[in-house]
Amino acid sequence: MTPAGADRPAAPRPRVRPDLDGLPLFRGRAAEGGMIGLDCNESPFAPPVAVSDAISAAAGELNRYPDNAAVDLTARLAERYGVSPANLTLGAGSVGLCVQLIQIACAAGDEVIIPWRSFEVYPAIARTAGAVVRRIPLTPEHTLDLPAMAAAISDRTRLVFVCSPNNPTGSAVSRAEVERFLAVVPSDVLVVLDEAYAEFTTGDADPLDGFGLVRDRLRQGRTNVVALRTFSKAYGLAGLRVGYCLSAVPVAELLGRVAVPYAVATLAQRAAVAALDCEEEVRGRCRHLVGERERVRAALLDAGWDVPVSGANFLWLPIGSAAESFAAHCRGRRILVKAFPGEGVRVTVGADAENDALLAAAGQFAQVGAVDVVRSAPLG
Ligand SMILES: Cc1ncc(COP(=O)(O)O)c(C=O)c1O
Repeated sequence: MTPAGADRPAAPRPRVRPDLDGLPLFRGRAAEGGMIGLDCNESPFAPPVAVSDAISAAAGELNRYPDNAAVDLTARLAERYGVSPANLTLGAGSVGLCVQLIQIACAAGDEVIIPWRSFEVYPAIARTAGAVVRRIPLTPEHTLDLPAMAAAISDRTRLVFVCSPNNPTGSAVSRAEVERFLAVVPSDVLVVLDEAYAEFTTGDADPLDGFGLVRDRLRQGRTNVVALRTFSKAYGLAGLRVGYCLSAVPVAELLGRVAVPYAVATLAQRAAVAALDCEEEVRGRCRHLVGERERVRAALLDAGWDVPVSGANFLWLPIGSAAESFAAHCRGRRILVKAFPGEGVRVTVGADAENDALLAAAGQFAQVGAVDVVRSAPLG
């Protein structure tokens, strides 16, 4: 349907902020039936039965507002991570918490440092707050350049995002690297360890456990680092929107002040509690996806693709100028992947048969002559 008023001559718009004009629009996934969705880093598994049961049981209470403090879920997470409930903040997905963190740290003209390429939402939410975004390029190996990020900190810097594993490249930083980085970051600059994919990290001798690191620092009275996790990825509850943040109490209090009231819905709170009861099942699913990730990566490497090591539930194909044509090729085979034009393609690890379909599509792409493009494309 045509939007109301679209057929009239343009009227002056209300006095909105002109600096938002160039802001990129986050489109997310448009519902498309019959496609294999390997473009949004979702879990291919439906929620455990106990989670669906908890959602059904809570449905009769939807005439009431949610528990704004999410007391039960917060207590369960506090127990799970060995922290006080006062150190935890729940949000409408961890992206909701990213927005709140920017809100509490930044006013117009303040700087936010992000690795780039990284989670595409960071620049938009920083710019919405009027902040200036400084993008620090990844290394040629597609990993975060923490020394360069530290060197970019200025008097105007208020917040630094450290995304590990990094979306879309999958690279994870080690605890030692983060410790070295934090040693040179001023103690009043907020550092956000975004660990949306932490549960899929394996094989690293010294993996970053941001929650453990923040907990240790809080015990030493060091308050400028926070960590974010989510129920969207490993727990497979992307449709419910629950994320959580571990921080010092004063930071948590500020996050509460800028929160949208009742942002975490009743169904989301109950489902998340039930999901914590199914942690073994969730871990088993993660192990399976990690196995699939390694199977897909090995097959692609065998076929001549460049595929960096990933600690997440997706793989990065740095195919440069071939990104859009590969995504179009996959779409033609009813597979959705995420293209970053001129840089590469991010492919989510799906169910086994979906991964087979992706491998077949990649094989066909190579056969039509594109493998040369794949091999010779500039990195990143
Ligand atoms: C790095 C990173 N952080 C945060 C999020 C947000 O996840 P959610 O809001 O679903 O918790 C995503 C989602 O894709 C992500 O890739």
